[in-house]
Amino acid sequence: MSTSPVTVRINLPQRAYDLLIGHGLLHDLGRQVALRCPAMRAAIVTDSNVGPLYLDAAIQSLQAAGIAAAQIVVPAGEASKSLNQLSQLLDVLASHHHARDEPIIALGGGVVGDLAGFAAAIWLRGVPFVQCPTSLEAMIDASVGGKTGINHAAGKNLIGAFYQPRLVCIDPACLSTLLPRDYTAALAESVKHAVIADPAFLAWHETHVHDLRAQQAETVCALIERNCQIKARYVEQDEREEAEKGVGRAALNFGHTIGHAIEAVSSYSLRHGEAVSLGMVAALELSVRGCGLSDVDRRRVEALLAALGLPVRCAIPLDANELRARLGADKKVRDRRVRFVVTPKLGETDWLIDPNEEDLRAAIDRLR
Ligand code: GLY
Repeated sequence: MSTSPVTVRINLPQRAYDLLIGHGLLHDLGRQVALRCPAMRAAIVTDSNVGPLYLDAAIQSLQAAGIAAAQIVVPAGEASKSLNQLSQLLDVLASHHHARDEPIIALGGGVVGDLAGFAAAIWLRGVPFVQCPTSLEAMIDASVGGKTGINHAAGKNLIGAFYQPRLVCIDPACLSTLLPRDYTAALAESVKHAVIADPAFLAWHETHVHDLRAQQAETVCALIERNCQIKARYVEQDEREEAEKGVGRAALNFGHTIGHAIEAVSSYSLRHGEAVSLGMVAALELSVRGCGLSDVDRRRVEALLAALGLPVRCAIPLDANELRARLGADKKVRDRRVRFVVTPKLGETDWLIDPNEEDLRAAIDRLR
């Protein structure tokens, strides 16, 4: 690392931690881990795609800091967020006599972070956890804020825990091996953060479309930093998504209620971010109809999504009845009422509860 990393602090009582962002930071992982969770040993969890690319560098860095790392490589893909994979991971921890002071380090994207984080939360009732995200989606969203968990046959992320890491170590150099489609899909989460919290950041995206599409290094670092700052503030204010007043951390679900339904209807052929982009288009329609968002602002966000290479119309046929049925299964349902995060004005959010049939149909029609 030639320059010192940028630090974004998450100020939670008793569980404050740093997000470090720096080109080449993976090579300093061991020192950063040793500073925050000193131990002689660690377990590093990665997947079959990321392991061959970055595991050696991570292990060498840990060794240089005096930490011997056990390696646990899980198959790449969402299927690894399973009870079966969790059970195998716990078996390895047991066979290594993984001790209470020894960190579990997640090296990979959202799947690895969620699985390893949940294992860290439950092994010995909690051992230190470090996130080392290698995908853009994990760098700007999944690794920040302590959501961990696995899937159940009844739905995604139904088994899990809020468990904050001790450190998030973000090395944007890892993005050089990310598939372009995955990079672009993650930009949807960045646009989401801008829409719900920061109109100036939305304008920043508009002026940096070319550099963002070209993955210009400084622009990408600036993007990661601002996203981490925005998400950090939501986590500090409403860590467990329990806000009684206002929307709280649930604002981060903007575009996700319909997005998750579209993801499922597409049999997961869409990337999560692509489905979120479509979900935001639908949520913007609900915002125009239900809480006064201007059509000009709605078109502005749609134009930005399209300029970044994200979908704003759905290529697969959408069956409105099937989508409606899926909405009823979403975790955001409360008292049997479907709740949507909407934006009355860019930078603000509100709840829209049980929108009328006509508005819901119009939101789905907007995607056609
Ligand atoms: N990805 C939404 C959250 O962390 O709350």
